[in-house]
Amino acid sequence: MCGIVGYVGEQECAEILVDGLKRLEYRGYDSAGIAVFQNGKITVEKSKGKLADLEKKMENGKKPHGNCGIGHTRWATHGEPSDINSHPHGNKRVTIVHNGIIENYKQIKDFLISQGYGFESETDTETVAKMLDYYYDGNPIETISKMIDKVNGSYALGILFRDFPDTIFAIRKESPLIVGLGKNENFIASDMTPILKYTKDYYLLEQGEIAVITAKEVKIYNTEEELIQKEVLTADWDADAAEKGGYEHFMLKEINEQPTAIKTTIAPRIQDGMPYLEESGLTMEMLKNYRRIFVVACGTAMHAGLVGKYIIEKLARVEVTVDIASEFRYRDPLIEKEDLVILVSQSGETADTAAALALAKERGAATLAIVNVKGSRIAREADVVIYTHAGPEISVASTKAYSVQLSVMYLIAFELAYAKGVISKERCMELTKSLMEIPDKLNEALALKERCQFIASRLVNAESLLYIGRGLDYALSMEGSLKLKEISYIHSESYAAGELKHGTISLVTDEMPVIAVATQSNLLEKTISNVKEVKARGAKVVVICTNDVEIGKDVANHLIQLPKMEDMLMPLLAAIPMQYIAYYTAVLKGCDVDQPRNLAKSVTVE
Ligand code: F6R
Repeated sequence: MCGIVGYVGEQECAEILVDGLKRLEYRGYDSAGIAVFQNGKITVEKSKGKLADLEKKMENGKKPHGNCGIGHTRWATHGEPSDINSHPHGNKRVTIVHNGIIENYKQIKDFLISQGYGFESETDTETVAKMLDYYYDGNPIETISKMIDKVNGSYALGILFRDFPDTIFAIRKESPLIVGLGKNENFIASDMTPILKYTKDYYLLEQGEIAVITAKEVKIYNTEEELIQKEVLTADWDADAAEKGGYEHFMLKEINEQPTAIKTTIAPRIQDGMPYLEESGLTMEMLKNYRRIFVVACGTAMHAGLVGKYIIEKLARVEVTVDIASEFRYRDPLIEKEDLVILVSQSGETADTAAALALAKERGAATLAIVNVKGSRIAREADVVIYTHAGPEISVASTKAYSVQLSVMYLIAFELAYAKGVISKERCMELTKSLMEIPDKLNEALALKERCQFIASRLVNAESLLYIGRGLDYALSMEGSLKLKEISYIHSESYAAGELKHGTISLVTDEMPVIAVATQSNLLEKTISNVKEVKARGAKVVVICTNDVEIGKDVANHLIQLPKMEDMLMPLLAAIPMQYIAYYTAVLKGCDVDQPRNLAKSVTVE
């Protein structure tokens, strides 16, 4: 979704803004622009397309010079991607960049037209810019407050008022925005990635707070327009975390970061060999008293919930329902006070997941967020938060965030099963020990890179693919299928292997490769029977299984064998070849791996 950066300090800001926007590219965008105070006037440059297009437009002396400015990458919602619709928007007096959606923009626009305002773009953002101009009375704080009263929706705004040179005004409601605190320079940004190389200190703006930012100081006002003191937060991500570090793509880097990400996520939650979630505020007493569990999330995070369902139900014998957040929020779910609703989200900003969280709270259920980005909306609004420590995930396709979400699911399942008395302390310790061994085993799985690359070369010309599996393997194959389609644009579907015969097998021909996940020992024979069925119909089959089973050439065309672990933990290992296969297929097809078309990293609109 849209990205915002702002800089005020002693340096030329155009380069800093464009560099910052490059670091926000991963959020997804289709146009970009900057506004800079130049000789007391606000100068705007913007362009449809990538940042390279904007840079080209600013060649030959057209780059604005100045030490204060705001920048934006736009992901079109109201109006197609075009130069005119790109941000910044406004007029000579007020210029803004905006992330979010203004729900009542039509009414505001009609009103402003009746007041003599004209509009150039189709965006909702321009109505906010013109509304600020309409209310402007020489006092920016008052002007912004009046605007807030009239505008419905979600927004993070960076604002320049011509009469206040070298000052950035910023505000947020629902959409994320932070204020970075440097030495003789300060920043605004949608997240830490653009400013990590300058500072790790920042303020997290709360709903309705207004920040007034100059090079020397940052003042924050609350909704009553009173000056307030805020706690300075310090990011624990280092600047290298947001760089490719020698890898060709962020996705490949992030696949390889999984052993460390899991270790960093689980280590603080294990004490004396047992899961220990109390530091996050989730006690055994709380856990064992929930009647049912709902896991609500979108996309990959929802797939992590599906694995969670299998393991929690199997181990702890507690009913778990997994919902897609955009369905959950409108299906009037049967949640009650005794239930626990777990929201899973890498970004912590996903609009549907946040709405599901609000609904769960409204119904009185307990809420637990499993989130990667500190201080994000979902993390702040849930009763309890367990942070995953994956570091920044830049590639749009989620990889390491998925594995750390899974590892938290395991800890919850182990602790819950023990709290409920369904497993003994010894078994709980045994499972926890196996989980701690995962990072080393993952390195063995990561070594299968070349094999996966070769298999990708066999799949690259397929028009459509089928993933099959049973039980946990089925849950995992959904993630494998999503990964492939989102970055390689090859259609794929995942299917419960036993369900094939009830219709879908009619699609199988020698042109439809099948990837079968068969890591669960109790279901192996059954899955292999299904593999034989598709092979008999001409499909080329890749089987992903453990290294203790023998599968002949007559069954699988290609085999990927993983180190053997507890069946229950196999999804963590089997995710790796799935991610590699998707990655190398996309690379071979020449796709934009880290920024697939039409996708945004954090989906802050419904
Ligand atoms: C797929 C992917 C998406 C996200 C989904 C939820 O690779 O990344 O499906 O998992 O948009 O995002 P978060 O986890 O930020 O709520």
